[in-house]
Amino acid sequence: MEELKKRILQDGTIIDNRILKVDNFLNQQIDPSLVMKMGQEFARRFADCPIDRIVTIESSGIAIALATAVAMGNIPVVFARKKKSLLMQDAVYTASIYSYTKEETYTASLSKSYLHAGERVLIIDDFLASGAAAVGLTELVRQAGAIPAGIGIVIEKSFQPGRGRLEALGYRVESLARIAAFRDNKPVFKE
Ligand code: G4P
Ligand code: NA
Ligand code: NA
Repeated sequence: MEELKKRILQDGTIIDNRILKVDNFLNQQIDPSLVMKMGQEFARRFADCPIDRIVTIESSGIAIALATAVAMGNIPVVFARKKKSLLMQDAVYTASIYSYTKEETYTASLSKSYLHAGERVLIIDDFLASGAAAVGLTELVRQAGAIPAGIGIVIEKSFQPGRGRLEALGYRVESLARIAAFRDNKPVFKE
């Protein structure tokens, strides 16, 4: 997605040749017009693939998932939580996710009320790095007997193992920007 790549070049900053900071339009301040266009782009790419529901994880995935759900004709959106809620009790699906950036494991959970057997689910997230978060979301979907029909990612760090892990599990991954490397504190895009 050209507009996204331009925006990354314009406003992204790279930390330690490892982390791309995009707080200016995605992870803290949110550019509504750009995020709505991301949703339209995911809808276009997955147009050949019937989708019943979108699953994402708090917090940064939510805005993107919402934009995608609107572009797909107001299908339901649900997000996994990273912290246990007292109200959720045991009627939840759970998956253990190891965060490489934070070096800790957390439990993602999603209420059983909002995922149903047989549904075709699109998984959406902001970054794909190690793939741990996306794999965890596919596990939640499968626990419900639903089908992970595809994975939509805004920014893929293609030099990390995420895409490979997901493809090895048989999933289709669509990323709006693919970063092959960081060089001289600039992202080098794939293709
Ligand atoms: P994963 O997301 O592929 O599982 O990889 P990892 O464990 O490395 O990522 C942990 C968190 O860091 C995730 O957000 C992920 O989106 C984010 N992340 C990974 N690489 C980058 C990067 O280069 N830039 C930025 N800005 N984020 C990155 P999270 O902790 O789940 O947080 P949030 O969704 O609440 O923002
Ligand atoms: Na994030
Ligand atoms: Na994320």
